[in-house]
Amino acid sequence: MDLSGRIALITGASQGIGRACALALAEAGADLVIGSRNLEKLRQVAAEVEALGRKTLALSLDVSSSDSVQRAVTAALEALGRIDILVNNAAITKDSLVMRMKPQDWDEVLRTNLDGAYHCIRAVLPGMVRQRYGRIINISSVVAQAGNSGQANYIASKAGLIGLTKAVAAEVASRNITVNAVAPGFIATPMTDQLPEGVRQKILSLVPLGRMGTDREVAYGVRFLASDEAAYITGHVLNINGGMYMA
Ligand SMILES: NC(=O)c1ccc[n+]([C@@H]2O[C@H](COP(=O)([O-])OP(=O)(O)OC[C@H]3O[C@@H](n4cnc5c(N)ncnc54)[C@H](OP(=O)(O)O)[C@@H]3O)[C@@H](O)[C@H]2O)c1
Repeated sequence: MDLSGRIALITGASQGIGRACALALAEAGADLVIGSRNLEKLRQVAAEVEALGRKTLALSLDVSSSDSVQRAVTAALEALGRIDILVNNAAITKDSLVMRMKPQDWDEVLRTNLDGAYHCIRAVLPGMVRQRYGRIINISSVVAQAGNSGQANYIASKAGLIGLTKAVAAEVASRNITVNAVAPGFIATPMTDQLPEGVRQKILSLVPLGRMGTDREVAYGVRFLASDEAAYITGHVLNINGGMYMA
């Protein structure tokens, strides 16, 4: 897969799946704009990408703020000229049973995970429409399809991303822009490192392949959807879940 000459914006690239996407896209030849709130960690990822010989712009970015997103996209366009690929990866969890869920935790998760993707799509689309080329990949989750207790806010945001994917895919297909979602299953990252051992074992018992996925295995799916080989795929949800949910 060759992404030479392409420029990708990846949100939440300071660790986990976002970092793995940064490295996988850079290995295929893309130059990158990476963003997250923690600039120090992000700079370490930028150094790893630069070691692969690719240009990287690391930007402080809070996807839940439309102003922050607009500032980052403006800076990216000034520095690199255009954005060909957007990976909406940044997300948080604030888990609790819905009866105990604080409105603030509901809002914060929806604002980051769903509004954040909307802000980023809205900021990059004018350029993609003008250049008649774009690849947008939204990172959803297996729980958006299968459900799970204690994650109503997170699941609502991730199911919303699937709807957003299909709506925007229909709107921009005529401009040669594809919009797809990736739905990872149980992946070893700092997000899942926080889970108690009992919960991990229970989730693992639901995975036919019998192990957690790696961030790289998700990144390879993202890289495929970003490539020319995936030109005729749009509005699709790619499951990378070890068989945990078979749609
Ligand atoms: N791990 C799994 O098993 C799994 C399963 C299904 C789906 N996913 C999805 O895969 C994606 C990555 O997950 P992960 O496990 O790699 O998560 P993670 O390790 O917690 O990383 C999340 C990233 O998002 C960034 N972020 C959080 N809030 C942000 C904000 N407001 N603005 C900008 N960046 C923000 C974080 O950086 P800062 O803190 O520096 O901002 C971090 O880089 C997420 O969309 C997640 O929902 C993960």
